[in-house]
Amino acid sequence: MKKLRAAVIGVGVMGRNHARVYSELDGTELVAVADVNSKTARNVAEDFRCDAYGDYREMLKEEHIDMVSIAVPTRYHRDVALDCIEKGIPVLVEKPIADSEENAKVIIDEAEKNGVKLTVGHIERFNPAVIELKKRLDKNELGKIFEIKAIRVGPFPNRIRDVGVVTDLAVHDIDIMRYLVGSEVKRLYAETERRIHTRHEDLLSGLLKFQNDAIGVLSVNWLTPEKIREISITGEKGMFLVKYLTQELYFYENIEASRRMYNYSDILMGVTEGNIINIRIPKREPLKAELESWVECVRKDKEPLVSGEDGLKALKLAQRLIESAIKEKVIVL
Ligand SMILES: NC(=O)c1ccc[n+]([C@@H]2O[C@H](COP(=O)([O-])OP(=O)(O)OC[C@H]3O[C@@H](n4cnc5c(N)ncnc54)[C@H](O)[C@@H]3O)[C@@H](O)[C@H]2O)c1
Repeated sequence: MKKLRAAVIGVGVMGRNHARVYSELDGTELVAVADVNSKTARNVAEDFRCDAYGDYREMLKEEHIDMVSIAVPTRYHRDVALDCIEKGIPVLVEKPIADSEENAKVIIDEAEKNGVKLTVGHIERFNPAVIELKKRLDKNELGKIFEIKAIRVGPFPNRIRDVGVVTDLAVHDIDIMRYLVGSEVKRLYAETERRIHTRHEDLLSGLLKFQNDAIGVLSVNWLTPEKIREISITGEKGMFLVKYLTQELYFYENIEASRRMYNYSDILMGVTEGNIINIRIPKREPLKAELESWVECVRKDKEPLVSGEDGLKALKLAQRLIESAIKEKVIVL
């Protein structure tokens, strides 16, 4: 099987990982990396044995590339993505898809017009615990979903200056909530604060109401001195809890739901604590799973799990949360 020739633009914290994974996957060969910081580009190229460029446009001109990952700061996603799309190269752009809805739409429209494949790096969809949870939800193991609650907190990463915590981090949880709840948001409200960031919000408490009546709760910040990344989802039959960092999945059983099955009643009569099951899942690097799936889409001309439209929807909801906080208003969508 011929290896696909992959390249990475922007090889800072995230892009370096893309470069490493492309160099490790069976289906790809890392041919080049580009970074405005030429020293960074050279270092990564040396580590993973590929060509280095200070100017990505030069790289697009010189190299034959089958697929590219874009991991430059969010405010440059649009320009870099458009240059790659113009060359007909399938694009994985890191999350958030862009710094504004307008720029996200331009990327999506241009990709469509040119028939170029596009995906967005919503990596949490490839966390093995989320993959397993999604399978179980699809088998109706939770029954009707009542609430989904995400906690994504930790210390401030100094390098993220161009967007606030809602656009940078909450988009992960918004995307996962849409994916797991399987419904769109109809109403939302948020409170945000800026405590240490020089320009943008660094604290979010948000509420989402989905069309199927599930409630989403978001607690996201760059202010907590401990990194926590968790999502819990409560429904008729109990609660699932995902710990993203350790790739753990738990099920907290509601005994009443299993009793109900024998009573032939449709009404949930109560909630009683039952068994707590630690669902064993083989651990896997989410970025490896994400890029492997991306390679498969490019090779076999399949639709990616995360579309440009998914990226836009997550960004839109993030922007509406910011707007809600600024206007001190509930926003109906
Ligand atoms: N999926 C995830 O979990 C995840 C995690 C971290 C970051 N990200 C995303 O990845 C992107 C990059 O974030 P980061 O944390 O790696 O930032 P970073 O600052 O560590 O890296 C960005 C790199 O891009 C380079 N760069 C800037 N402008 C460029 C240009 N025009 N051409 C080429 N290179 C350029 C910089 O020199 C730097 O090396 C952001 O959009 C961020 O949201 C995603």
